[in-house]
Amino acid sequence: MSKFVDLRSDTVTRPVPEMRKAIAEAEVGDDVFGDDPTVNALEARVAGEFGREAALFVPSGTMANQVALAALTQPGDEVILDRQSHIFNYEVAAASAISGIQFNALDGDRGVITTRDIAPCIREPNVHCPETRVISLENTHNRAGGRIFPLEEMISIKALADRHHLKVHLDGARIANASVATGISFAAYASCADTVSMCFSKGLGAPIGSIVVSDHETIERARKKRKMFGGGMRQVGILAAAANYSLDHHVGRLRDDHENAARLGEIISSIDGMTLLYPVETNIVVFRLDERAYTLDGFLSSLKEHRVLAVPFGPRTVRMVTHLDVGADDISYVESVLRDLKPN
Ligand SMILES: Cc1ncc(COP(=O)(O)O)c(C=O)c1O
Repeated sequence: MSKFVDLRSDTVTRPVPEMRKAIAEAEVGDDVFGDDPTVNALEARVAGEFGREAALFVPSGTMANQVALAALTQPGDEVILDRQSHIFNYEVAAASAISGIQFNALDGDRGVITTRDIAPCIREPNVHCPETRVISLENTHNRAGGRIFPLEEMISIKALADRHHLKVHLDGARIANASVATGISFAAYASCADTVSMCFSKGLGAPIGSIVVSDHETIERARKKRKMFGGGMRQVGILAAAANYSLDHHVGRLRDDHENAARLGEIISSIDGMTLLYPVETNIVVFRLDERAYTLDGFLSSLKEHRVLAVPFGPRTVRMVTHLDVGADDISYVESVLRDLKPN
């Protein structure tokens, strides 16, 4: 195999030729003035598919989460979330640094926090305390190995939030994976949240771009935050065209990624010295190495020598992610590499 099988993330995909053609042919205008027809069409389309009033195209998943949280809160507010969530671990404390938000991070069960976990953490009005303002969920859950957040639990959490006048944010960077795996529509998931973010640059295979959906008023606040955070973009229809192409052509095929990940999970489970940490529900496979057999660094560099890339994901833990640029033949190749790997 001459090319690398790059399983580090689903962000590594390169735009396919037809997507590049859509990029080249996109009609554009200055989006900060609201003049880019391709962005406007994408935002209207996504808002419609999520059953919400409005949407805002942004450069990254991090910015999507951050403009949403900023739009929902005031400095000094508290956001409840799962301790393993992307927002808590991998967004450089942006919500605290930029928006003055405090987190209350709960120990969920594989990324899932429930009403039973959340209810006791909602604060009563008290002059000494921050106000609980937002509950933030993640679906699918990256650190929990692509776990799908159960819809019934999301419905209960939204009802709890409504009773306490709280908002719900859904980090739906990979909500398309959840939707394809379960058959639950974007709109059904979005009905359980006030703001939802989604990424085009992960499993959907676009080079850049994410989106936030909500009501008109919240999106207008998020638009101003986007400008403040330096994310106001000009002739960005070239990227919206890629996002639009990804929605037309790359949603249904996520099924292939899930099948490839499931197969990879079975292979790993069958090899001595490797233990799958979570059931494989979508496109992420997380497993632990038996320390008597492999060191993490030795394992990853042996893989790399065989042109297979993966990332460290905690002590003795490895993550592999399937995507558009990984086919069933690549999984067979990875199987042969894993089976031949000598303990180190
Ligand atoms: C669940 C989740 N949310 C948000 C993000 C952030 O996306 P970006 O890398 O585009 O900022 C990621 C990135 O991997 C993610 O996995």
